[in-house]
Amino acid sequence: MSKKIILSGIQSTGNLTLGNYLGAINNWTKMQEDYDCHFMIANLHTLTIRNDPETLRQNTLNLLALYIASGINPEKSNIFIQSQVASHAELAWVLNCYTYMGELSRMTQFKDKSAKHADNINSGLFTYPVLMAADILLYQADLVPVGEDQKQHLEITRDIAERFNKIYGQTFKIPEPYVQGVAARVMGLQDPTSKMSKSSTLENDSILLNDEPEVILKKFKKSVTDSENIVRYDKENKPGISNLITIYSAITGKTKENIEKEFEGKGYGDFKTAVANCVIEELKPIQEKYKELKENPDYLEKIFRRGAERAYTIAHKTLEDVYKKIGMVWF
Ligand code: TYM
Repeated sequence: MSKKIILSGIQSTGNLTLGNYLGAINNWTKMQEDYDCHFMIANLHTLTIRNDPETLRQNTLNLLALYIASGINPEKSNIFIQSQVASHAELAWVLNCYTYMGELSRMTQFKDKSAKHADNINSGLFTYPVLMAADILLYQADLVPVGEDQKQHLEITRDIAERFNKIYGQTFKIPEPYVQGVAARVMGLQDPTSKMSKSSTLENDSILLNDEPEVILKKFKKSVTDSENIVRYDKENKPGISNLITIYSAITGKTKENIEKEFEGKGYGDFKTAVANCVIEELKPIQEKYKELKENPDYLEKIFRRGAERAYTIAHKTLEDVYKKIGMVWF
């Protein structure tokens, strides 16, 4: 029996956070044996904000190195750069014509991002989920492993696919979101009611994957908690401590109950240090491997060239089917 297909991606907007790692990459690495995996670097999606071109190019290659450093094995999974497979932009245009303004304007990420970038509410920001739908549907993905914040984009992807299939007959597989693990939503350390994000403007709010150990320790030590001084999971009343429990649990594999027991009678200081140390240990080998890979640009180029070829073969087949069905003149 053939393996189920997975596709997922991360925007190459610079430093990744612990949220991206625990909510996405860390789950991907565990799925490589059992699924046929495609992991994409979503560099076209980053154009919705203004980037310095050279920085964007570097960020894209850095993300490729980080995927591999985190344990994505390019011999098992297909890793590719979105802009190198033209079918993504082509299908996105087609799907734009099958997506309604009303449904796009309900996307919470669009509302959040347009509030954040009020001076640059471009139409790419609005149609962003359509490009994401194209990414997924081109590969006939069964499952899309993402953090909770992307679930709404998966719902619209399913709606677009169903709408298209209804008109033209079976064309796209209907993908399922795969929101998995305890850390599907890692919160900020300074504002534990908002998700940890690369674009947070609060100092010490996000752990970045390339943070030095001292910086990680400092950020956890400064994290916002409450005055109870009891390590207990209660998301409503103790969002800061609950978030730290989530992080500790995701990395150590311990249950919330066991963590509460482990820190019974101990204060927040001890707990924060323990969380920081487990994050430091988790990231250490990744940071080392990342540095090694960065010194080998030829190897990275080999991976992205091969990835783009493999991806194109699959994506183009779906696009051909779509073009024929909607009435584009074919060769
Ligand atoms: P992006 O780049 O914002 O985030 C990448 C992945 O990280 C997850 N994530 C989190 N998980 C837990 N806690 C957090 N604080 C946290 N922050 C981010 C996200 O849920 C996501 O899984 N549009 C997508 C990229 C994309 C994509 C795709 C994903 C483009 N095409 C096709 C899947 C399939 C995005 O901006 O993710």
